[in-house]
Amino acid sequence: MNNTISLIDAFKQAKYPLPGHGKRNVQVLKTAFEQVDGEMESDMYGAGEVIEGYQHKMAKLLGKESAVFFPSGTMAQQIALRIWSDVKGNKKVAYHPTCHLEIHEKDGLKELHHLEPILLADESRPVLLKDLEGLQEEAACVLLELPQREIGGQLPAFEELEAMSAFCRERGIKLHLDGARLFEVLPYYGKSAEEVCALFDSVYISVYKGIGGIAGAVLAGDRDFTEQSKVWKRRHGGDLISLYPYIVAADYYMERRLPLMEKYYHEAKELAVLYNGCELLRTVPAVPVSNMFHVHSERSKEQLEQIFAGVTLETGVGFTQSVREKKDGGAYFEISLGDRYGEAPRPIVAEAFRLLDQRLKAAEAV
Ligand SMILES: Cc1ncc(COP(=O)(O)O)c(C=O)c1O
Repeated sequence: MNNTISLIDAFKQAKYPLPGHGKRNVQVLKTAFEQVDGEMESDMYGAGEVIEGYQHKMAKLLGKESAVFFPSGTMAQQIALRIWSDVKGNKKVAYHPTCHLEIHEKDGLKELHHLEPILLADESRPVLLKDLEGLQEEAACVLLELPQREIGGQLPAFEELEAMSAFCRERGIKLHLDGARLFEVLPYYGKSAEEVCALFDSVYISVYKGIGGIAGAVLAGDRDFTEQSKVWKRRHGGDLISLYPYIVAADYYMERRLPLMEKYYHEAKELAVLYNGCELLRTVPAVPVSNMFHVHSERSKEQLEQIFAGVTLETGVGFTQSVREKKDGGAYFEISLGDRYGEAPRPIVAEAFRLLDQRLKAAEAV
């Protein structure tokens, strides 16, 4: 075993990487454009067939009156919450402590929009009705993230979602969906995108996660809301003269991958069984409810990196390219399933997990 190679280098060399769709290289864009007519006109500052047609298609898919294409979800969601805050004349917005706006956006919501978040639930579980019932202050808007990415992609039951939606409607609280991975949870809920989105006043979806496009986001809601979002998009500098490279790729990969979400979900459950079969690893959630899950261990980040890199070099099976430290000791990493897992020969994968289990136990005994 070569102990000096980094985990990321071992993963890059892996013949059978398990997570994801594939390399994020220029070929992803080239493939999307292979059949596109060179005479197709660019969009111009939010207008033109390529952007308007796609927005119309997305509004229909999400069951909303109107939709707007944004360069990023970060921009789209700050704008969504700002609009609801202005509508309600209230700067308070409520969301989970691991919300993307809270931990990954350098406080854009607070610095740019002066909004004041109220944190709901704790980091071990998603937001539930009891958290809304326990709100001590009035909020303009509640943001729910489906699935809650930073805690392994956990989900509330659909009935719980319905109850939260009814609670917000009764009290005039706007409900916004961070649906960065919305399509990825539909097979578990057994619902259409429209059925889930009907519970929310506004919805954001990402076009580059499970869908696997280049970048970009869609924000949908009623026409008043989306018209206001276009003004804010201009103010944020998000009205790029041309967004078509992102839109063409989004549309291309969406057509191909939405029908595969069910497959990714079942494969995530299959892969989680293999991880849970290793004595010193466990997945969160124990049974995935989307194409993603986290793998936790009491072993240290360094130990895991070394063991995973070694098994990858020996078997060609790529498990992960990074491991993160847990606050309370041990380490974890995230898995999102895409096209690749289905391509890995099962006997080789099974053998890799047997070896992994053995190495983890041997490391513990040291
Ligand atoms: C749950 C969630 N919300 C929002 C975003 C922001 O999306 P973007 O990268 O398009 O700004 C992300 C990106 O990782 C995300 O995971």
